[in-house]
Amino acid sequence: MTITSSDRMGCSVHLSEEGRSVIILDQRQLPNRQVYMELKTAEEIYDAIKTLAVRGAPAIGICAGYGMYVLALQEAAEDYDGFRTAMEKAGDYLVSSRPTAVNLSWAVQRMLGVIAGNTGKSISEIRELLLQECVAIHDEDIGMCARISEYGLSLIKPGDGILTHCNAGPLATSKYGTAIGPMLLGKERGIDFKVFADETRPLLQGARLTSYELQKAGVDVTLICDNMASLVMKNGWVQACFVGCDRIAANGDFANKIGTSGVAILARHYGIPFYSLGPVSTIDMNCPSGKEIRIEERDPEEIRSLWYQEPMALPEVKCFNPAFDVTDHELLTAIVTDRGIVYPPFDVNLKKLFEKDQ
Ligand code: MRU
Repeated sequence: MTITSSDRMGCSVHLSEEGRSVIILDQRQLPNRQVYMELKTAEEIYDAIKTLAVRGAPAIGICAGYGMYVLALQEAAEDYDGFRTAMEKAGDYLVSSRPTAVNLSWAVQRMLGVIAGNTGKSISEIRELLLQECVAIHDEDIGMCARISEYGLSLIKPGDGILTHCNAGPLATSKYGTAIGPMLLGKERGIDFKVFADETRPLLQGARLTSYELQKAGVDVTLICDNMASLVMKNGWVQACFVGCDRIAANGDFANKIGTSGVAILARHYGIPFYSLGPVSTIDMNCPSGKEIRIEERDPEEIRSLWYQEPMALPEVKCFNPAFDVTDHELLTAIVTDRGIVYPPFDVNLKKLFEKDQ
Protein backbone atom coordinates (compact mmCIF):
# COMPACT_ATOMS: atom_id res chain seq x y z
CA MET A 1 0.00 0.00 0.00
CA THR A 2 1.56 3.30 -1.06
CA ILE A 3 0.71 6.17 1.27
CA THR A 4 0.99 9.69 -0.08
CA SER A 5 1.09 13.02 1.69
CA SER A 6 -2.47 13.68 0.52
CA ASP A 7 -3.58 10.48 2.37
CA ARG A 8 -2.00 11.95 5.53
CA MET A 9 -3.41 15.44 4.97
CA GLY A 10 -6.89 13.90 4.65
CA CYS A 11 -6.71 12.57 8.24
CA SER A 12 -8.10 14.28 11.33
CA VAL A 13 -4.50 14.71 12.61
CA HIS A 14 -1.55 15.64 10.43
CA LEU A 15 1.62 17.68 10.32
CA SER A 16 1.36 21.13 8.77
CA GLU A 17 2.96 21.53 5.34
CA GLU A 18 5.99 23.37 6.69
CA GLY A 19 6.25 20.84 9.54
CA ARG A 20 6.22 23.31 12.42
CA SER A 21 2.78 22.56 13.89
CA VAL A 22 0.26 19.77 14.31
CA ILE A 23 -3.08 20.30 12.59
CA ILE A 24 -6.15 18.65 14.08
CA LEU A 25 -9.83 18.66 13.24
CA ASP A 26 -11.43 19.84 16.50
CA GLN A 27 -13.68 16.87 17.32
CA ARG A 28 -15.43 18.82 20.09
CA GLN A 29 -17.17 20.97 17.49
CA LEU A 30 -18.55 18.14 15.36
CA PRO A 31 -21.07 17.52 13.89
CA ASN A 32 -22.06 21.18 13.66
CA ARG A 33 -18.79 22.84 12.68
CA GLN A 34 -15.64 21.62 10.90
CA VAL A 35 -12.89 23.63 12.56
CA TYR A 36 -9.17 22.90 12.27
CA MET A 37 -6.75 23.87 15.04
CA GLU A 38 -3.03 24.46 14.81
CA LEU A 39 -1.02 23.15 17.77
CA LYS A 40 2.45 24.57 18.30
CA THR A 41 3.31 24.40 21.99
CA ALA A 42 3.47 21.52 24.47
CA GLU A 43 0.58 23.12 26.38
CA GLU A 44 -1.60 23.34 23.27
CA ILE A 45 -0.95 19.69 22.41
CA TYR A 46 -1.59 18.60 26.01
CA ASP A 47 -4.87 20.56 26.18
CA ALA A 48 -6.09 19.29 22.81
CA ILE A 49 -5.63 15.69 24.00
CA LYS A 50 -6.98 16.32 27.50
CA THR A 51 -10.13 18.11 26.31
CA LEU A 52 -10.77 15.60 23.50
CA ALA A 53 -10.28 18.07 20.66
CA VAL A 54 -8.23 15.14 19.38
CA ARG A 55 -9.37 11.77 20.68
CA GLY A 56 -9.43 8.07 19.94
CA ALA A 57 -6.46 5.91 20.94
CA PRO A 58 -4.58 5.81 17.60
CA ALA A 59 -5.26 9.50 16.83
CA ILE A 60 -3.81 10.68 20.13
CA GLY A 61 -0.74 8.51 19.45
CA ILE A 62 -0.29 10.11 16.02
CA CYS A 63 -0.82 13.58 17.53
CA ALA A 64 1.79 12.90 20.23
CA GLY A 65 4.28 11.61 17.63
CA TYR A 66 3.93 14.74 15.51
CA GLY A 67 3.86 16.85 18.67
CA MET A 68 7.22 15.47 19.80
CA TYR A 69 8.71 16.38 16.42
CA VAL A 70 7.29 19.92 16.52
CA LEU A 71 8.70 20.37 20.03
CA ALA A 72 12.07 18.93 18.94
CA LEU A 73 12.32 21.68 16.32
CA GLN A 74 11.76 24.32 18.99
CA GLU A 75 14.14 22.85 21.57
CA ALA A 76 16.98 25.30 22.21
CA ALA A 77 19.51 22.80 23.64
CA GLU A 78 22.01 21.90 20.92
CA ASP A 79 24.03 19.41 23.01
CA TYR A 80 22.83 15.79 22.98
CA ASP A 81 22.26 15.37 26.75
CA GLY A 82 20.38 18.66 27.12
CA PHE A 83 18.25 17.88 24.08
CA ARG A 84 17.45 14.36 25.27
CA THR A 85 16.55 15.50 28.81
CA ALA A 86 14.25 18.22 27.47
CA MET A 87 12.53 15.82 25.09
CA GLU A 88 12.02 13.23 27.84
CA LYS A 89 10.41 15.92 29.96
CA ALA A 90 8.14 16.95 27.07
CA GLY A 91 7.21 13.31 26.49
CA ASP A 92 6.28 12.78 30.17
CA TYR A 93 4.13 15.88 30.04
CA LEU A 94 2.22 14.79 26.92
CA VAL A 95 1.70 11.26 28.28
CA SER A 96 0.19 12.68 31.48
CA SER A 97 -2.70 14.22 29.50
CA ARG A 98 -4.67 10.95 29.31
CA PRO A 99 -3.67 7.78 31.16
CA THR A 100 -5.73 4.94 29.68
CA ALA A 101 -4.94 4.64 25.96
CA VAL A 102 -1.56 2.98 25.60
CA ASN A 103 -1.03 4.36 22.08
CA LEU A 104 -0.12 7.74 23.57
CA SER A 105 2.86 6.49 25.59
CA TRP A 106 3.72 3.99 22.83
CA ALA A 107 4.11 6.80 20.29
CA VAL A 108 6.09 9.00 22.70
CA GLN A 109 8.38 6.05 23.51
CA ARG A 110 8.99 5.45 19.81
CA MET A 111 10.04 9.07 19.38
CA LEU A 112 12.27 8.97 22.47
CA GLY A 113 13.73 5.67 21.22
CA VAL A 114 15.00 7.50 18.13
CA ILE A 115 16.84 9.97 20.35
CA ALA A 116 18.20 7.26 22.66
CA GLY A 117 19.41 5.14 19.73
CA ASN A 118 21.35 7.90 18.00
CA THR A 119 23.82 9.22 20.56
CA GLY A 120 26.55 9.84 17.97
CA LYS A 121 24.43 11.99 15.66
CA SER A 122 24.02 15.75 15.56
CA ILE A 123 20.77 17.32 16.78
CA SER A 124 19.81 18.27 13.25
CA GLU A 125 20.31 14.68 12.08
CA ILE A 126 18.21 13.46 15.02
CA ARG A 127 15.47 15.93 14.12
CA GLU A 128 15.41 14.50 10.60
CA LEU A 129 15.08 10.95 12.02
CA LEU A 130 12.30 12.12 14.33
CA LEU A 131 10.42 13.45 11.31
CA GLN A 132 10.74 10.08 9.60
CA GLU A 133 9.54 8.30 12.75
CA CYS A 134 6.39 10.36 13.28
CA VAL A 135 5.45 10.06 9.62
CA ALA A 136 6.04 6.29 9.91
CA ILE A 137 3.72 6.11 12.95
CA HIS A 138 1.01 7.80 10.89
CA ASP A 139 1.59 5.73 7.74
CA GLU A 140 1.60 2.50 9.72
CA ASP A 141 -1.74 3.46 11.25
CA ILE A 142 -3.27 4.06 7.82
CA GLY A 143 -2.09 0.60 6.74
CA MET A 144 -3.19 -1.04 10.01
CA CYS A 145 -6.70 0.41 9.74
CA ALA A 146 -7.05 -0.90 6.19
CA ARG A 147 -6.00 -4.42 7.26
CA ILE A 148 -8.23 -4.39 10.36
CA SER A 149 -11.15 -3.34 8.16
CA GLU A 150 -10.49 -6.26 5.79
CA TYR A 151 -10.34 -8.76 8.63
CA GLY A 152 -13.46 -7.29 10.23
CA LEU A 153 -15.33 -7.43 6.94
CA SER A 154 -14.58 -11.15 6.69
CA LEU A 155 -16.57 -11.70 9.91
CA ILE A 156 -19.90 -10.28 8.71
CA LYS A 157 -22.43 -10.92 5.95
CA PRO A 158 -24.16 -8.39 3.67
CA GLY A 159 -27.23 -6.97 5.38
CA ASP A 160 -26.03 -7.80 8.92
CA GLY A 161 -26.88 -5.45 11.80
CA ILE A 162 -23.77 -4.25 13.65
CA LEU A 163 -23.85 -2.44 16.97
CA THR A 164 -20.99 -0.15 17.87
CA HIS A 165 -20.17 1.95 20.93
CA CYS A 166 -18.27 5.26 21.10
CA ASN A 167 -16.30 6.25 18.00
CA ALA A 168 -13.60 4.14 16.41
CA GLY A 169 -13.81 5.56 12.91
CA PRO A 170 -11.57 7.69 10.71
CA LEU A 171 -11.72 10.63 13.12
CA ALA A 172 -10.24 8.49 15.90
CA THR A 173 -7.57 6.92 13.69
CA SER A 174 -6.59 7.32 10.06
CA LYS A 175 -8.56 6.56 6.91
CA TYR A 176 -11.07 3.72 7.59
CA GLY A 177 -10.84 3.54 11.36
CA THR A 178 -11.05 0.29 13.30
CA ALA A 179 -14.49 -0.73 14.61
CA ILE A 180 -16.43 1.03 11.87
CA GLY A 181 -13.77 0.39 9.23
CA PRO A 182 -15.39 -2.85 8.00
CA MET A 183 -18.69 -1.08 7.29
CA LEU A 184 -16.93 1.81 5.49
CA LEU A 185 -14.85 -0.62 3.45
CA GLY A 186 -18.00 -2.66 2.75
CA LYS A 187 -19.75 0.45 1.50
CA GLU A 188 -16.90 1.13 -0.94
CA ARG A 189 -17.43 -2.37 -2.31
CA GLY A 190 -21.19 -2.09 -2.55
CA ILE A 191 -21.87 -4.20 0.56
CA ASP A 192 -24.48 -2.72 2.90
CA PHE A 193 -24.87 -3.18 6.62
CA LYS A 194 -27.26 -1.73 9.18
CA VAL A 195 -25.30 -0.05 11.93
CA PHE A 196 -26.65 0.82 15.37
CA ALA A 197 -24.57 3.54 17.01
CA ASP A 198 -24.87 3.91 20.78
CA GLU A 199 -24.94 7.62 21.56
CA THR A 200 -22.28 7.03 24.28
CA ARG A 201 -22.96 9.12 27.35
CA PRO A 202 -21.64 11.38 28.69
CA LEU A 203 -19.56 12.80 25.81
CA LEU A 204 -21.78 11.53 22.99
CA GLN A 205 -19.03 10.30 20.67
CA GLY A 206 -21.54 7.89 19.10
CA ALA A 207 -24.02 10.65 18.30
CA ARG A 208 -21.62 13.42 17.42
CA LEU A 209 -18.98 11.42 15.58
CA THR A 210 -19.96 7.85 14.65
CA SER A 211 -23.41 8.59 13.26
CA TYR A 212 -21.90 11.64 11.50
CA GLU A 213 -19.12 9.65 9.85
CA LEU A 214 -21.39 6.80 8.78
CA GLN A 215 -24.19 9.04 7.56
CA LYS A 216 -21.75 11.09 5.47
CA ALA A 217 -20.36 7.87 3.98
CA GLY A 218 -23.86 6.73 3.01
CA VAL A 219 -23.92 3.81 5.47
CA ASP A 220 -27.33 2.87 6.92
CA VAL A 221 -26.91 4.08 10.53
CA THR A 222 -29.44 4.32 13.34
CA LEU A 223 -28.56 6.30 16.44
CA ILE A 224 -29.81 4.85 19.74
CA CYS A 225 -29.46 5.85 23.38
CA ASP A 226 -27.11 3.59 25.31
CA ASN A 227 -29.99 2.05 27.25
CA MET A 228 -31.65 0.85 24.02
CA ALA A 229 -28.91 -1.62 23.07
CA SER A 230 -30.63 -4.48 24.89
CA LEU A 231 -33.89 -3.92 23.01
CA VAL A 232 -32.34 -3.85 19.53
CA MET A 233 -30.42 -7.03 20.38
CA LYS A 234 -33.55 -8.73 21.70
CA ASN A 235 -35.39 -7.78 18.49
CA GLY A 236 -32.82 -9.77 16.51
CA TRP A 237 -31.48 -6.70 14.71
CA VAL A 238 -27.84 -7.16 15.72
CA GLN A 239 -25.65 -9.95 14.32
CA ALA A 240 -22.32 -8.67 15.69
CA CYS A 241 -20.91 -5.99 18.00
CA PHE A 242 -17.77 -4.14 16.86
CA VAL A 243 -16.00 -1.84 19.32
CA GLY A 244 -12.58 -0.19 19.49
CA CYS A 245 -10.07 -0.43 22.32
CA ASP A 246 -7.75 1.87 24.26
CA ARG A 247 -5.52 -0.74 25.88
CA ILE A 248 -5.57 -4.51 25.52
CA ALA A 249 -3.90 -6.39 28.37
CA ALA A 250 -1.85 -9.55 27.81
CA ASN A 251 -4.77 -11.76 28.90
CA GLY A 252 -7.25 -10.12 26.47
CA ASP A 253 -9.06 -7.89 28.99
CA PHE A 254 -9.40 -4.50 27.37
CA ALA A 255 -10.27 -0.92 28.24
CA ASN A 256 -12.62 0.99 25.98
CA LYS A 257 -15.17 3.77 26.35
CA ILE A 258 -17.36 3.55 29.45
CA GLY A 259 -20.35 1.33 28.67
CA THR A 260 -18.46 -1.13 26.47
CA SER A 261 -18.45 -3.84 29.08
CA GLY A 262 -22.24 -3.52 29.47
CA VAL A 263 -22.63 -4.03 25.72
CA ALA A 264 -20.44 -7.15 25.95
CA ILE A 265 -22.54 -8.57 28.78
CA LEU A 266 -25.73 -7.98 26.77
CA ALA A 267 -24.20 -9.56 23.67
CA ARG A 268 -23.29 -12.66 25.67
CA HIS A 269 -26.86 -12.84 27.00
CA TYR A 270 -28.32 -12.70 23.49
CA GLY A 271 -25.68 -14.99 21.93
CA ILE A 272 -24.26 -12.24 19.68
CA PRO A 273 -20.54 -12.32 18.77
CA PHE A 274 -18.62 -9.45 20.34
CA TYR A 275 -15.39 -8.21 18.75
CA SER A 276 -12.82 -5.60 19.72
CA LEU A 277 -10.88 -4.14 16.80
CA GLY A 278 -7.56 -2.35 17.19
CA PRO A 279 -3.99 -2.10 15.94
CA VAL A 280 -1.17 -3.98 17.66
CA SER A 281 -0.04 -0.62 19.09
CA THR A 282 -3.06 -0.90 21.43
CA ILE A 283 -1.86 -4.21 22.90
CA ASP A 284 0.15 -3.73 26.08
CA MET A 285 1.98 -6.98 26.80
CA ASN A 286 3.49 -5.35 29.91
CA CYS A 287 0.02 -5.12 31.41
CA PRO A 288 -0.98 -8.59 32.66
CA SER A 289 -4.73 -8.01 33.00
CA GLY A 290 -7.47 -5.38 33.09
CA LYS A 291 -6.91 -4.90 36.84
CA GLU A 292 -3.68 -3.04 36.08
CA ILE A 293 -5.20 -0.59 33.57
CA ARG A 294 -5.49 2.91 34.96
CA ILE A 295 -8.92 4.37 34.25
CA GLU A 296 -9.21 8.09 33.65
CA GLU A 297 -11.82 9.96 35.72
CA ARG A 298 -13.21 13.11 34.18
CA ASP A 299 -14.96 16.31 35.25
CA PRO A 300 -18.38 15.70 36.90
CA GLU A 301 -19.77 18.62 34.88
CA GLU A 302 -19.74 16.34 31.84
CA ILE A 303 -22.63 14.52 33.56
CA ARG A 304 -24.33 17.39 35.41
CA SER A 305 -24.45 20.21 32.91
CA LEU A 306 -22.57 19.73 29.63
CA TRP A 307 -24.97 19.69 26.62
CA TYR A 308 -27.89 21.06 28.65
CA GLN A 309 -29.29 24.59 28.56
CA GLU A 310 -29.45 24.39 32.34
CA PRO A 311 -27.82 21.87 34.68
CA MET A 312 -29.74 18.59 35.07
CA ALA A 313 -28.46 17.96 38.58
CA LEU A 314 -27.76 20.03 41.66
CA PRO A 315 -24.18 21.33 41.63
CA GLU A 316 -23.49 19.56 44.92
CA VAL A 317 -24.67 16.15 43.67
CA LYS A 318 -21.86 13.62 43.73
CA CYS A 319 -20.96 12.19 40.31
CA PHE A 320 -18.74 9.31 39.30
CA ASN A 321 -17.39 9.84 35.80
CA PRO A 322 -14.94 7.15 34.67
CA ALA A 323 -14.11 7.61 30.98
CA PHE A 324 -13.47 3.91 30.33
CA ASP A 325 -14.33 0.48 31.62
CA VAL A 326 -12.62 -2.86 31.28
CA THR A 327 -14.31 -5.70 29.44
CA ASP A 328 -13.41 -9.14 30.71
CA HIS A 329 -11.69 -11.26 28.04
CA GLU A 330 -14.21 -14.05 28.66
CA LEU A 331 -16.86 -11.90 26.99
CA LEU A 332 -14.82 -11.41 23.84
CA THR A 333 -15.34 -13.57 20.78
CA ALA A 334 -12.12 -12.34 19.15
CA ILE A 335 -9.73 -9.41 18.86
CA VAL A 336 -9.36 -8.14 15.30
CA THR A 337 -5.86 -6.74 14.76
CA ASP A 338 -3.91 -5.66 11.70
CA ARG A 339 -1.97 -8.93 12.00
CA GLY A 340 -5.03 -11.13 11.96
CA ILE A 341 -7.97 -12.23 14.07
CA VAL A 342 -6.96 -13.44 17.51
CA TYR A 343 -9.22 -16.01 19.20
CA PRO A 344 -9.07 -17.38 22.77
CA PRO A 345 -7.04 -18.38 24.64
CA PHE A 346 -5.92 -14.76 24.39
CA ASP A 347 -2.95 -15.05 26.78
CA VAL A 348 -1.39 -17.64 24.45
CA ASN A 349 -2.47 -16.20 21.13
CA LEU A 350 -1.63 -12.55 21.81
CA LYS A 351 1.89 -13.64 22.73
CA LYS A 352 2.17 -15.51 19.40
CA LEU A 353 1.30 -12.28 17.58
CA PHE A 354 4.47 -10.66 18.93
CA GLU A 355 6.66 -13.76 18.55
CA LYS A 356 6.37 -13.15 14.79
CA ASP A 357 8.45 -9.97 15.39
CA GLN A 358 11.44 -11.88 16.77
O1 MRU B 1 -12.52 9.16 25.37
P1 MRU B 1 -12.33 8.81 23.93
O2 MRU B 1 -13.39 9.40 23.06
O3 MRU B 1 -10.94 9.09 23.44
O4 MRU B 1 -12.52 7.24 23.91
C1 MRU B 1 -12.25 6.56 22.71
C2 MRU B 1 -12.61 5.14 22.72
O5 MRU B 1 -12.94 4.54 23.71
C3 MRU B 1 -12.41 4.44 21.40
O6 MRU B 1 -13.29 3.37 21.27
C4 MRU B 1 -10.98 3.92 21.33
O7 MRU B 1 -10.06 4.93 21.58
C5 MRU B 1 -10.68 3.30 20.04
S1 MRU B 1 -10.46 4.47 18.73
C6 MRU B 1 -10.08 3.57 17.38
